[in-house]
Amino acid sequence: MDDQKDRVVLVTGASGGLGYQISRGFAGKGAKVVMAVRNQKKGEQKAVLIRDMRGSADVDVMVLDLADLSSVRAFSGLFHKQYDRLDILVNNAGIMACPYGKTTDGFELQFGTNHLGHFALTLLLIDMMRSVQDPRVVTLSSLAHSFGSLDFDDLDWQKRRYRKWQAYGDSKLANLYFTHELQRRFEGEGFPLIAVAAHPGWAATDLQRHEGWLQPLNAFFAQSAAMGALPVLYAASAPEVKGGEFFGPDGIRGMRGYPVKVQPNMRSGDRRTAGLLWEVSEELTGVEW
Ligand SMILES: NC(=O)c1ccc[n+]([C@@H]2O[C@H](COP(=O)([O-])OP(=O)(O)OC[C@H]3O[C@@H](n4cnc5c(N)ncnc54)[C@H](OP(=O)(O)O)[C@@H]3O)[C@@H](O)[C@H]2O)c1
Repeated sequence: MDDQKDRVVLVTGASGGLGYQISRGFAGKGAKVVMAVRNQKKGEQKAVLIRDMRGSADVDVMVLDLADLSSVRAFSGLFHKQYDRLDILVNNAGIMACPYGKTTDGFELQFGTNHLGHFALTLLLIDMMRSVQDPRVVTLSSLAHSFGSLDFDDLDWQKRRYRKWQAYGDSKLANLYFTHELQRRFEGEGFPLIAVAAHPGWAATDLQRHEGWLQPLNAFFAQSAAMGALPVLYAASAPEVKGGEFFGPDGIRGMRGYPVKVQPNMRSGDRRTAGLLWEVSEELTGVEW
């Protein structure tokens, strides 16, 4: 990564896993990093580790619960008060294959956290990116997007038997639709911000906590969280990256390795669905472009 001095980088879900590594990567290159976390104590502990690594590291911890739109709004309000710019937004936080649950606003938990929370956050902060050079929004997707298929008649799984893996895949497909539509909107306005997506392959983090059988497999199949963070850091900082692209590891089945540009599935390129998801997301969150 080039030097990131004078850049303000906001990372969601920075209290562990990839988010911590992404924050560490940016802080190591001199950026001002805002670690958005739902658990302040956990976030502060991670910030201390980053400062231990680099005494001059400039990291702040701020509370954000993506499963609660009032928290997203409050976060945005405070961020606007405390900062005058945002160069890079990394929409990283996520949950996977959890039991059925709902966000504070009543949305299915995975869709509500992974997609709607980030949708609202991005739109609320975009004005702070308008005056910076090379602004970027990087959103974490997953190989799991490939089995995603949104049911617009039942986004909250009220009419069907809940399938936790399907709901995860759906939310990660939504992350790609969001990236593509966001990019089209920037281009439509002639605004030089770029929206890109990245995935870490299979990285050893706490993400698998809801699947007891999966976590032990991390030891054999997963790469480190630090390696998993590389495609995100690449997407967020490499000068050659273009809007709408998707980055992931270059190794076997895209599960490990160093960052390369990868192809999302055909479905994620569907403009009509991406446009529909955008409209529905505006309606559900009450946050508009
Ligand atoms: N690890 C992988 O192999 C893998 C593969 C594909 C994609 N991904 C994607 O990578 C991203 C990061 O996952 P990870 O592997 O680093 O998982 P992780 O270790 O479980 O970390 C997830 C982070 O998100 C935070 N978070 C969860 N719910 C939140 C909420 N409602 N509001 C704010 N923050 C919240 C967590 O906070 P707490 O610390 O409070 O729990 C944690 O900091 C996710 O989007 C995931 O879908 C990961």
